[in-house]
Amino acid sequence: MSRLLVVSNRLPVTVGAAQGEAIVTPSMGGLSTGLRGPFERSQGLWIGWPGDLSRLDDAGRATVMKELQALRTLPVELTADELRSYYEDFANGVLWPVFHYLLDRIPLHSGGWEMYRHVNAKFAAAVAAQYRPGDTIWVHDYQLLLLPGMLREQLPDARIGFFLHIPFPASEVFRMLPWREDVLRGMLGADLIGFHTPSYARNFASAVVRLLGHEPVVDELAVAGRKVRFRAFPMGIDTETFTAPSQPQAGEFQPRPGEHLLLGVDRLDYTKGIRRRLSAVERVLTRRPDLRGKLRMLQIAVPSRESVTAYQDYRRRVEEIVGAINGRCSSLTDAPPIHYMYRGFPQEQLISLYRAASVMLVTPTRDGMNLVAKEFAAARTDGDGVLVLSEFAGAAEEMPEALHINPFDVDGMAQAIEQAVDMSEGERRSRMAGLRARVLRFDVHRWAEDFLAALADTEIGAPLEPTP
Ligand code: ADP
Ligand code: G6P
Repeated sequence: MSRLLVVSNRLPVTVGAAQGEAIVTPSMGGLSTGLRGPFERSQGLWIGWPGDLSRLDDAGRATVMKELQALRTLPVELTADELRSYYEDFANGVLWPVFHYLLDRIPLHSGGWEMYRHVNAKFAAAVAAQYRPGDTIWVHDYQLLLLPGMLREQLPDARIGFFLHIPFPASEVFRMLPWREDVLRGMLGADLIGFHTPSYARNFASAVVRLLGHEPVVDELAVAGRKVRFRAFPMGIDTETFTAPSQPQAGEFQPRPGEHLLLGVDRLDYTKGIRRRLSAVERVLTRRPDLRGKLRMLQIAVPSRESVTAYQDYRRRVEEIVGAINGRCSSLTDAPPIHYMYRGFPQEQLISLYRAASVMLVTPTRDGMNLVAKEFAAARTDGDGVLVLSEFAGAAEEMPEALHINPFDVDGMAQAIEQAVDMSEGERRSRMAGLRARVLRFDVHRWAEDFLAALADTEIGAPLEPTP
Protein backbone atom coordinates (compact mmCIF):
# COMPACT_ATOMS: atom_id res chain seq x y z
CA MET A 1 0.00 0.00 0.00
CA SER A 2 1.34 3.48 -0.82
CA ARG A 3 2.01 5.58 2.22
CA LEU A 4 2.50 9.23 3.06
CA LEU A 5 5.87 10.01 4.63
CA VAL A 6 5.58 13.40 6.32
CA VAL A 7 8.96 14.88 7.19
CA SER A 8 9.49 17.94 9.40
CA ASN A 9 12.16 19.02 11.83
CA ARG A 10 9.82 18.74 14.81
CA LEU A 11 7.48 15.80 15.34
CA PRO A 12 3.84 16.57 16.31
CA VAL A 13 4.79 15.54 19.84
CA THR A 14 7.82 16.62 21.84
CA VAL A 15 9.49 14.51 24.52
CA GLY A 16 10.57 16.36 27.63
CA ALA A 17 11.40 15.43 31.19
CA ALA A 18 9.69 16.40 34.46
CA GLN A 19 11.10 15.18 37.77
CA GLY A 20 13.18 12.60 35.92
CA GLU A 21 10.11 11.17 34.14
CA ALA A 22 9.66 11.40 30.37
CA ILE A 23 6.62 13.37 29.25
CA VAL A 24 5.30 13.41 25.71
CA THR A 25 3.32 16.56 24.91
CA PRO A 26 1.79 17.96 21.73
CA SER A 27 4.25 20.26 19.93
CA MET A 28 3.39 23.96 19.64
CA GLY A 29 3.37 26.01 16.45
CA GLY A 30 1.31 26.18 13.29
CA LEU A 31 3.05 23.33 11.46
CA SER A 32 2.31 20.78 14.19
CA THR A 33 -1.19 21.91 15.17
CA GLY A 34 -2.16 22.27 11.51
CA LEU A 35 -0.80 19.04 10.05
CA ARG A 36 -1.84 16.82 12.97
CA GLY A 37 -5.41 16.34 11.72
CA PRO A 38 -4.60 15.46 8.08
CA PHE A 39 -1.83 13.11 9.27
CA GLU A 40 -4.24 11.25 11.56
CA ARG A 41 -6.49 10.61 8.55
CA SER A 42 -3.58 9.35 6.39
CA GLN A 43 -1.72 6.07 6.16
CA GLY A 44 1.91 6.51 6.86
CA LEU A 45 4.68 7.82 9.01
CA TRP A 46 5.80 11.18 10.39
CA ILE A 47 9.59 11.46 10.49
CA GLY A 48 11.20 14.16 12.64
CA TRP A 49 13.06 15.26 15.74
CA PRO A 50 11.37 14.13 18.97
CA GLY A 51 13.07 16.53 21.41
CA ASP A 52 15.91 15.68 23.76
CA LEU A 53 15.94 11.99 24.71
CA SER A 54 19.48 12.04 26.08
CA ARG A 55 18.47 12.31 29.73
CA LEU A 56 16.23 9.23 29.68
CA ASP A 57 17.42 5.98 31.19
CA ASP A 58 17.02 2.72 29.22
CA ALA A 59 13.57 1.93 30.58
CA GLY A 60 12.31 5.51 29.99
CA ARG A 61 13.71 5.44 26.50
CA ALA A 62 12.02 2.13 25.67
CA THR A 63 8.65 3.48 26.90
CA VAL A 64 9.00 6.66 24.85
CA MET A 65 10.00 4.73 21.72
CA LYS A 66 6.90 2.56 22.05
CA GLU A 67 4.72 5.63 22.47
CA LEU A 68 6.26 7.29 19.40
CA GLN A 69 5.76 4.13 17.37
CA ALA A 70 2.10 3.93 18.40
CA LEU A 71 1.68 7.49 17.10
CA ARG A 72 3.23 6.39 13.74
CA THR A 73 6.17 8.71 14.27
CA LEU A 74 9.80 7.89 13.57
CA PRO A 75 12.36 9.87 15.59
CA VAL A 76 15.48 11.36 14.04
CA GLU A 77 17.62 12.07 17.08
CA LEU A 78 20.01 15.01 17.08
CA THR A 79 23.12 15.48 19.18
CA ALA A 80 23.65 18.61 21.28
CA ASP A 81 26.18 19.87 18.69
CA GLU A 82 23.85 19.24 15.78
CA LEU A 83 21.02 21.04 17.55
CA ARG A 84 23.11 24.04 18.44
CA SER A 85 24.59 24.49 15.01
CA TYR A 86 21.80 23.34 12.67
CA TYR A 87 18.68 24.35 14.63
CA GLU A 88 19.79 27.31 16.76
CA ASP A 89 22.58 28.93 14.73
CA PHE A 90 21.48 28.29 11.18
CA ALA A 91 17.76 27.50 10.88
CA ASN A 92 16.66 29.89 13.63
CA GLY A 93 19.68 32.21 13.71
CA VAL A 94 19.98 32.89 9.96
CA LEU A 95 17.10 31.50 7.86
CA TRP A 96 14.27 32.56 10.19
CA PRO A 97 15.28 36.27 10.33
CA VAL A 98 16.14 36.49 6.61
CA PHE A 99 12.85 34.92 5.52
CA HIS A 100 10.99 37.30 7.90
CA TYR A 101 12.84 40.40 6.57
CA LEU A 102 14.66 41.04 9.87
CA LEU A 103 18.00 41.81 8.34
CA ASP A 104 19.54 43.44 11.42
CA ARG A 105 19.30 40.08 13.18
CA ILE A 106 21.60 38.30 10.75
CA PRO A 107 24.75 37.38 12.68
CA LEU A 108 28.16 38.54 11.52
CA HIS A 109 29.44 34.98 11.39
CA SER A 110 27.40 31.85 11.11
CA GLY A 111 29.25 28.60 11.22
CA GLY A 112 26.02 26.62 10.96
CA TRP A 113 25.83 25.95 7.22
CA GLU A 114 27.93 22.75 7.19
CA MET A 115 25.94 21.32 10.06
CA TYR A 116 22.70 22.34 8.32
CA ARG A 117 23.80 20.28 5.31
CA HIS A 118 24.86 17.44 7.57
CA VAL A 119 21.52 17.29 9.43
CA ASN A 120 19.55 17.53 6.18
CA ALA A 121 21.62 14.55 4.97
CA LYS A 122 20.81 12.73 8.20
CA PHE A 123 17.10 13.25 7.54
CA ALA A 124 17.60 12.10 3.93
CA ALA A 125 19.14 8.84 5.15
CA ALA A 126 16.26 8.30 7.61
CA VAL A 127 13.64 8.91 4.90
CA ALA A 128 15.43 6.76 2.29
CA ALA A 129 15.60 3.89 4.79
CA GLN A 130 11.80 4.00 5.19
CA TYR A 131 10.89 4.66 1.57
CA ARG A 132 9.09 2.01 -0.48
CA PRO A 133 8.30 2.49 -4.19
CA GLY A 134 4.90 4.15 -4.50
CA ASP A 135 5.20 6.15 -1.26
CA THR A 136 4.67 9.92 -1.34
CA ILE A 137 7.19 12.05 0.54
CA TRP A 138 6.03 15.41 1.91
CA VAL A 139 8.82 17.57 3.36
CA HIS A 140 8.01 20.64 5.48
CA ASP A 141 9.57 23.98 6.24
CA TYR A 142 12.76 26.00 6.37
CA GLN A 143 14.76 23.61 8.54
CA LEU A 144 14.83 21.10 5.67
CA LEU A 145 15.30 23.19 2.51
CA LEU A 146 18.07 20.93 1.19
CA LEU A 147 16.22 17.69 1.83
CA PRO A 148 14.17 17.49 -1.42
CA GLY A 149 17.38 17.80 -3.49
CA MET A 150 19.19 15.19 -1.41
CA LEU A 151 16.25 12.80 -1.68
CA ARG A 152 16.02 13.33 -5.44
CA GLU A 153 19.63 12.13 -5.78
CA GLN A 154 18.98 9.02 -3.73
CA LEU A 155 15.45 8.29 -4.95
CA PRO A 156 15.20 9.66 -8.52
CA ASP A 157 11.72 8.21 -9.09
CA ALA A 158 10.15 9.22 -5.79
CA ARG A 159 7.17 11.58 -5.65
CA ILE A 160 8.37 14.46 -3.45
CA GLY A 161 6.40 17.48 -2.25
CA PHE A 162 7.72 20.43 -0.26
CA PHE A 163 5.73 23.01 1.70
CA LEU A 164 7.18 26.20 3.18
CA HIS A 165 5.31 27.35 6.31
CA ILE A 166 7.04 30.75 6.53
CA PRO A 167 7.17 33.61 4.00
CA PHE A 168 9.44 33.31 0.97
CA PRO A 169 10.99 36.79 0.93
CA ALA A 170 11.39 39.16 -2.01
CA SER A 171 14.28 37.98 -4.20
CA GLU A 172 16.16 41.18 -3.33
CA VAL A 173 16.24 39.98 0.29
CA PHE A 174 16.65 36.27 -0.43
CA ARG A 175 19.77 36.93 -2.49
CA MET A 176 21.56 38.24 0.61
CA LEU A 177 21.91 34.63 1.79
CA PRO A 178 25.44 33.45 1.02
CA TRP A 179 24.11 29.94 0.30
CA ARG A 180 21.22 31.10 -1.89
CA GLU A 181 21.85 28.88 -4.94
CA ASP A 182 22.26 25.72 -2.85
CA VAL A 183 19.04 26.50 -1.00
CA LEU A 184 17.09 26.93 -4.24
CA ARG A 185 18.58 23.77 -5.75
CA GLY A 186 17.60 21.89 -2.61
CA MET A 187 13.98 23.04 -2.88
CA LEU A 188 13.90 22.25 -6.60
CA GLY A 189 14.47 18.57 -5.85
CA ALA A 190 10.71 18.43 -5.17
CA ASP A 191 8.06 17.81 -7.84
CA LEU A 192 5.67 20.29 -6.24
CA ILE A 193 6.56 23.25 -4.01
CA GLY A 194 3.78 24.88 -1.98
CA PHE A 195 3.60 28.32 -0.34
CA HIS A 196 0.93 29.97 1.79
CA THR A 197 0.28 32.89 -0.60
CA PRO A 198 0.64 33.73 -4.31
CA SER A 199 3.10 36.50 -3.45
CA TYR A 200 5.51 34.04 -1.79
CA ALA A 201 5.27 31.85 -4.91
CA ARG A 202 6.05 34.90 -7.08
CA ASN A 203 9.04 35.80 -4.89
CA PHE A 204 10.33 32.25 -5.27
CA ALA A 205 9.94 32.33 -9.06
CA SER A 206 11.79 35.61 -9.23
CA ALA A 207 14.66 34.24 -7.08
CA VAL A 208 14.94 31.18 -9.33
CA VAL A 209 15.10 33.32 -12.48
CA ARG A 210 17.64 35.76 -11.04
CA LEU A 211 19.91 33.29 -9.34
CA LEU A 212 19.65 30.13 -11.41
CA GLY A 213 18.38 31.46 -14.73
CA HIS A 214 15.45 29.02 -14.98
CA GLU A 215 12.46 30.80 -16.57
CA PRO A 216 9.10 29.61 -15.23
CA VAL A 217 6.21 28.92 -17.61
CA VAL A 218 3.18 29.97 -15.53
CA ASP A 219 3.69 27.79 -12.42
CA GLU A 220 6.17 25.28 -13.83
CA LEU A 221 9.92 25.18 -14.15
CA ALA A 222 12.17 22.89 -16.14
CA VAL A 223 15.06 21.79 -13.97
CA ALA A 224 17.63 19.35 -15.35
CA GLY A 225 14.98 17.80 -17.61
CA ARG A 226 12.44 17.49 -14.78
CA LYS A 227 9.23 19.40 -14.31
CA VAL A 228 8.86 21.26 -10.99
CA ARG A 229 5.56 22.95 -10.17
CA PHE A 230 5.12 25.65 -7.56
CA ARG A 231 2.05 27.51 -6.31
CA ALA A 232 0.07 28.81 -3.37
CA PHE A 233 -1.86 26.46 -1.10
CA PRO A 234 -3.11 28.68 1.76
CA MET A 235 -3.18 26.52 4.88
CA GLY A 236 -6.37 26.26 6.93
CA ILE A 237 -7.17 24.92 10.39
CA ASP A 238 -8.93 21.87 11.78
CA THR A 239 -12.31 23.60 11.96
CA GLU A 240 -14.10 20.75 13.77
CA THR A 241 -11.87 21.21 16.80
CA PHE A 242 -12.41 24.96 16.97
CA THR A 243 -16.18 24.97 16.39
CA ALA A 244 -16.96 22.24 18.96
CA PRO A 245 -18.90 23.52 22.00
CA SER A 246 -16.59 24.13 24.96
CA GLN A 247 -17.34 22.75 28.40
CA PRO A 248 -17.16 25.52 30.99
CA GLN A 249 -14.23 24.78 33.30
CA ALA A 250 -13.93 25.61 36.97
CA GLY A 251 -11.98 28.84 37.48
CA GLU A 252 -12.26 29.73 33.80
CA PHE A 253 -11.14 33.22 32.82
CA GLN A 254 -14.19 35.47 32.33
CA PRO A 255 -14.23 39.16 31.50
CA ARG A 256 -16.04 41.28 34.07
CA PRO A 257 -19.44 42.70 33.05
CA GLY A 258 -18.96 45.67 30.73
CA GLU A 259 -15.26 44.90 30.23
CA HIS A 260 -13.67 44.72 26.75
CA LEU A 261 -11.19 41.87 26.65
CA LEU A 262 -8.36 42.25 24.13
CA LEU A 263 -6.57 38.94 23.47
CA GLY A 264 -3.13 38.05 22.10
CA VAL A 265 -2.05 34.39 21.66
CA ASP A 266 1.39 33.71 20.21
CA ARG A 267 4.55 31.70 20.42
CA LEU A 268 6.92 34.14 22.10
CA ASP A 269 8.67 35.11 18.88
CA TYR A 270 10.13 38.45 17.82
CA THR A 271 8.20 38.27 14.53
CA LYS A 272 4.84 38.40 16.33
CA GLY A 273 4.90 42.15 17.06
CA ILE A 274 3.97 41.71 20.73
CA ARG A 275 5.81 44.80 21.98
CA ARG A 276 4.31 47.03 19.30
CA ARG A 277 0.87 45.62 20.11
CA LEU A 278 1.28 46.38 23.82
CA SER A 279 2.44 49.93 23.02
CA ALA A 280 -0.69 50.42 20.91
CA VAL A 281 -2.85 49.24 23.82
CA GLU A 282 -1.10 51.72 26.09
CA ARG A 283 -1.79 54.49 23.59
CA VAL A 284 -5.50 53.61 23.64
CA LEU A 285 -5.50 53.71 27.45
CA THR A 286 -3.79 57.09 27.41
CA ARG A 287 -5.99 58.62 24.72
CA ARG A 288 -9.27 57.24 26.02
CA PRO A 289 -9.63 57.80 29.76
CA ASP A 290 -13.25 56.59 29.39
CA LEU A 291 -11.88 53.09 28.70
CA ARG A 292 -9.65 52.90 31.79
CA GLY A 293 -10.83 50.12 34.03
CA LYS A 294 -13.01 48.79 31.18
CA LEU A 295 -10.29 47.55 28.87
CA ARG A 296 -8.09 44.59 29.69
CA MET A 297 -5.46 42.91 27.54
CA LEU A 298 -4.74 39.22 28.05
CA GLN A 299 -1.46 38.24 26.40
CA ILE A 300 -0.64 34.56 26.31
CA ALA A 301 2.84 33.73 25.12
CA VAL A 302 3.91 30.14 24.73
CA PRO A 303 7.63 29.57 25.43
CA SER A 304 9.53 29.00 22.20
CA ARG A 305 13.19 28.40 21.21
CA GLU A 306 14.33 29.32 24.70
CA SER A 307 17.90 28.24 23.99
CA VAL A 308 18.27 30.90 21.26
CA THR A 309 19.66 34.19 22.63
CA ALA A 310 17.45 36.40 20.47
CA TYR A 311 14.38 34.72 22.02
CA GLN A 312 15.71 35.17 25.57
CA ASP A 313 16.29 38.88 24.82
CA TYR A 314 12.86 39.30 23.27
CA ARG A 315 11.19 37.68 26.28
CA ARG A 316 12.99 40.06 28.62
CA ARG A 317 11.93 43.06 26.54
CA VAL A 318 8.29 41.92 26.37
CA GLU A 319 8.22 41.42 30.14
CA GLU A 320 9.78 44.85 30.67
CA ILE A 321 7.11 46.55 28.61
CA VAL A 322 4.30 44.65 30.37
CA GLY A 323 5.68 45.85 33.72
CA ALA A 324 6.19 49.39 32.45
CA ILE A 325 2.64 49.72 31.09
CA ASN A 326 1.07 48.22 34.21
CA GLY A 327 3.20 50.56 36.30
CA ARG A 328 2.03 53.58 34.34
CA CYS A 329 -1.62 52.67 33.78
CA SER A 330 -2.74 50.83 36.96
CA SER A 331 -4.86 52.36 39.68
CA LEU A 332 -5.75 51.27 43.19
CA THR A 333 -9.32 50.52 42.15
CA ASP A 334 -8.89 48.63 38.85
CA ALA A 335 -7.04 45.44 37.89
CA PRO A 336 -3.77 46.07 36.01
CA PRO A 337 -4.61 46.52 32.30
CA ILE A 338 -2.15 43.90 30.94
CA HIS A 339 -2.56 40.31 32.10
CA TYR A 340 0.46 38.39 30.81
CA MET A 341 1.05 34.64 30.94
CA TYR A 342 4.17 32.87 29.73
CA ARG A 343 3.00 29.33 29.09
CA GLY A 344 1.15 27.00 26.75
CA PHE A 345 -2.53 26.20 27.21
CA PRO A 346 -4.57 23.12 26.34
CA GLN A 347 -6.54 23.69 23.16
CA GLU A 348 -9.96 23.64 24.94
CA GLN A 349 -8.87 26.50 27.18
CA LEU A 350 -7.53 28.45 24.24
CA ILE A 351 -10.92 28.05 22.54
CA SER A 352 -12.74 29.38 25.64
CA LEU A 353 -10.45 32.41 25.60
CA TYR A 354 -11.08 33.03 21.89
CA ARG A 355 -14.80 32.99 22.77
CA ALA A 356 -14.43 35.33 25.73
CA ALA A 357 -12.48 38.00 23.82
CA SER A 358 -14.08 41.12 22.37
CA VAL A 359 -11.08 41.83 20.16
CA MET A 360 -8.32 39.48 18.96
CA LEU A 361 -5.01 41.20 18.23
CA VAL A 362 -2.82 39.42 15.65
CA THR A 363 -0.06 41.88 14.82
CA PRO A 364 3.06 40.14 13.45
CA THR A 365 5.65 42.18 11.59
CA ARG A 366 5.82 39.14 9.23
CA ASP A 367 4.12 35.78 9.40
CA GLY A 368 3.87 33.00 6.80
CA MET A 369 0.15 32.51 7.48
CA ASN A 370 -0.85 32.87 11.17
CA LEU A 371 -3.30 30.19 12.14
CA VAL A 372 -4.32 31.93 15.39
CA ALA A 373 -6.32 34.44 13.31
CA LYS A 374 -8.22 31.58 11.66
CA GLU A 375 -8.70 29.69 14.94
CA PHE A 376 -10.26 32.80 16.48
CA ALA A 377 -12.76 33.20 13.63
CA ALA A 378 -13.68 29.48 13.66
CA ALA A 379 -14.15 29.48 17.44
CA ARG A 380 -16.63 32.40 17.29
CA THR A 381 -19.71 30.24 16.84
CA ASP A 382 -21.63 33.14 18.45
CA GLY A 383 -20.86 35.21 15.32
CA ASP A 384 -19.43 38.09 17.39
CA GLY A 385 -15.89 39.41 18.04
CA VAL A 386 -13.50 41.60 16.06
CA LEU A 387 -10.21 40.54 14.51
CA VAL A 388 -7.43 43.12 14.22
CA LEU A 389 -4.93 41.64 11.78
CA SER A 390 -1.52 42.67 10.47
CA GLU A 391 -1.32 43.17 6.74
CA PHE A 392 2.05 41.36 6.95
CA ALA A 393 0.47 38.03 7.93
CA GLY A 394 -0.26 35.62 5.06
CA ALA A 395 -3.77 35.25 6.51
CA ALA A 396 -4.57 38.91 5.66
CA GLU A 397 -4.96 38.02 1.96
CA GLU A 398 -7.84 35.68 2.81
CA MET A 399 -9.40 37.73 5.64
CA PRO A 400 -10.47 41.08 4.17
CA GLU A 401 -13.22 41.55 6.80
CA ALA A 402 -10.65 41.88 9.59
CA LEU A 403 -9.45 45.36 10.59
CA HIS A 404 -6.10 45.40 8.81
CA ILE A 405 -3.25 47.24 10.48
CA ASN A 406 0.37 48.04 9.75
CA PRO A 407 2.27 46.98 12.91
CA PHE A 408 5.01 49.51 12.15
CA ASP A 409 2.38 52.26 12.61
CA VAL A 410 1.64 52.02 16.33
CA ASP A 411 -0.74 55.01 16.23
CA GLY A 412 -2.71 53.43 13.40
CA MET A 413 -2.87 50.21 15.39
CA ALA A 414 -4.21 52.12 18.42
CA GLN A 415 -6.90 53.69 16.21
CA ALA A 416 -7.91 50.26 14.91
CA ILE A 417 -8.21 48.95 18.48
CA GLU A 418 -10.49 51.89 19.33
CA GLN A 419 -12.52 51.24 16.18
CA ALA A 420 -12.86 47.58 17.21
CA VAL A 421 -13.96 48.44 20.74
CA ASP A 422 -16.48 51.03 19.49
CA MET A 423 -17.82 48.92 16.59
CA SER A 424 -21.57 48.35 16.45
CA GLU A 425 -22.85 44.83 16.97
CA GLY A 426 -24.27 44.80 13.43
CA GLU A 427 -20.90 45.58 11.86
CA ARG A 428 -19.11 43.06 14.10
CA ARG A 429 -21.49 40.32 13.08
CA SER A 430 -21.37 41.10 9.41
CA ARG A 431 -17.55 41.12 9.35
CA MET A 432 -17.34 37.92 11.40
CA ALA A 433 -19.79 36.15 9.08
CA GLY A 434 -17.48 36.83 6.12
CA LEU A 435 -14.39 35.65 8.02
CA ARG A 436 -16.04 32.47 9.26
CA ALA A 437 -17.48 31.50 5.89
CA ARG A 438 -14.03 31.35 4.30
CA VAL A 439 -12.23 29.76 7.27
CA LEU A 440 -14.83 27.00 7.58
CA ARG A 441 -14.84 26.31 3.86
CA PHE A 442 -11.09 26.06 3.29
CA ASP A 443 -10.07 23.94 6.25
CA VAL A 444 -6.80 22.09 6.78
CA HIS A 445 -8.12 18.80 5.42
CA ARG A 446 -9.02 20.47 2.17
CA TRP A 447 -5.55 22.10 2.13
CA ALA A 448 -3.79 18.74 2.54
CA GLU A 449 -6.08 17.06 -0.01
CA ASP A 450 -5.47 19.85 -2.56
CA PHE A 451 -1.71 19.69 -2.12
CA LEU A 452 -1.55 15.89 -2.26
CA ALA A 453 -3.92 15.75 -5.26
CA ALA A 454 -1.72 18.24 -7.14
CA LEU A 455 1.35 16.21 -6.18
CA ALA A 456 -0.29 12.96 -7.33
CA ASP A 457 -1.03 14.69 -10.62
CA THR A 458 2.60 15.54 -11.28
CA GLU A 459 4.36 13.48 -13.89
CA ILE A 460 7.62 12.56 -12.27
CA GLY A 461 10.63 13.23 -14.44
CA ALA A 462 8.47 14.58 -17.32
CA PRO A 463 10.27 17.34 -19.23
CA LEU A 464 8.54 20.66 -19.90
CA GLU A 465 7.34 21.43 -23.38
CA PRO A 466 9.90 23.78 -24.94
CA THR A 467 8.61 27.39 -24.87
CA PRO A 468 7.81 28.76 -28.33
P1 ADP B 1 3.49 29.85 14.41
O1 ADP B 1 3.39 28.73 13.48
O2 ADP B 1 4.49 30.89 14.03
O3 ADP B 1 3.63 29.47 15.83
P2 ADP B 1 0.61 30.16 14.01
O4 ADP B 1 -0.31 31.24 14.45
O5 ADP B 1 0.45 29.75 12.59
O6 ADP B 1 2.08 30.65 14.33
O7 ADP B 1 0.38 28.87 14.89
C1 ADP B 1 0.48 28.89 16.28
C2 ADP B 1 -0.21 27.66 16.84
O8 ADP B 1 0.21 27.49 18.19
C3 ADP B 1 -1.71 27.78 16.85
O9 ADP B 1 -2.29 26.55 16.47
C4 ADP B 1 -2.04 28.14 18.28
O10 ADP B 1 -3.28 27.63 18.72
C5 ADP B 1 -0.91 27.50 19.05
N1 ADP B 1 -0.59 28.31 20.25
C6 ADP B 1 -0.12 29.57 20.25
N2 ADP B 1 0.02 30.01 21.52
C7 ADP B 1 -0.37 29.02 22.31
C8 ADP B 1 -0.46 28.85 23.73
N3 ADP B 1 -0.09 29.80 24.60
N4 ADP B 1 -0.90 27.67 24.19
C9 ADP B 1 -1.28 26.71 23.33
N5 ADP B 1 -1.21 26.81 21.99
C10 ADP B 1 -0.77 27.94 21.49
C1 G6P C 1 6.76 27.72 13.20
C2 G6P C 1 7.59 26.98 12.16
C3 G6P C 1 7.61 25.49 12.47
C4 G6P C 1 8.07 25.26 13.90
C5 G6P C 1 7.21 26.05 14.87
C6 G6P C 1 7.67 25.92 16.32
O1 G6P C 1 5.46 27.29 13.10
O2 G6P C 1 7.07 27.24 10.86
O3 G6P C 1 8.49 24.82 11.59
O4 G6P C 1 7.99 23.88 14.23
O5 G6P C 1 7.25 27.42 14.52
O6 G6P C 1 9.04 26.21 16.42
P1 G6P C 1 10.11 25.14 16.94
O7 G6P C 1 11.41 25.79 16.65
O8 G6P C 1 9.81 24.99 18.38
O9 G6P C 1 9.90 23.86 16.19
